[in-house]
Amino acid sequence: MKILLLTLAFAVLCASEISMFPKQFAKFSGNWLLLYIASNNTEKMSENSPLVIYVRSIDFDSDGKNITAKVYNKYNGQCLPVTSTGVRTQGNFFTADYAGVNHFQIVYVTGKAVIVKKTNVDEDGVVSKFIALLGRTNTVSDLVFEEFKKWTRKEGIPEENIVNVFSKDDCPVT
Ligand SMILES: *[C@@H]1O[C@H](CO)[C@@H](O)[C@H](O)[C@H]1NC(C)=O
Ligand SMILES: *[C@@H]1O[C@H](CO)[C@@H](O)[C@H](O)[C@H]1NC(C)=O
Repeated sequence: MKILLLTLAFAVLCASEISMFPKQFAKFSGNWLLLYIASNNTEKMSENSPLVIYVRSIDFDSDGKNITAKVYNKYNGQCLPVTSTGVRTQGNFFTADYAGVNHFQIVYVTGKAVIVKKTNVDEDGVVSKFIALLGRTNTVSDLVFEEFKKWTRKEGIPEENIVNVFSKDDCPVT
């Protein structure tokens, strides 16, 4: 019983943390790096895939409605700067148009790491799902990495589909 109550309390705590997040978007603005990404569609995971983005910064506007990401894409191994904007539809749900339509949800947040769940529908209607781990720096704690793996398992994405994006990020530092 105690354990059940604790579990419940923890679940409520997590839920409230997440639902409070929109009010605090501004403080998550700033420099971020994409460290790891996993997808159920390995074709979307190549170094030059438009969906493998080399993130530099993410900014929320003051009312937390719009989000602007400065990233690099690689095209034939060359880094091309891209600014992409997204709109918050509700709570932690966002949509952004790049390489098709993307729906994403921020599922885990600390001051140093963010885990994002994303679905992309490309121009040909192919649906792929992703879990991404962003960090303020290029390292995250084991605890956060375990959390990331937990989300990939939850989505049924095999562990071998995890790509270390940071290790391929040789785009300019801005
Ligand atoms: C937010 O994005 C929408 C859609 O792109 C745009 O029409 C609106 O002007 C933006 N709002 C702000 C405050 O930038
Ligand atoms: C990936 O997941 C999406 C959404 O569940 C599904 O529609 C798609 O068929 C999956 N792709 C692969 C390659 O398993």
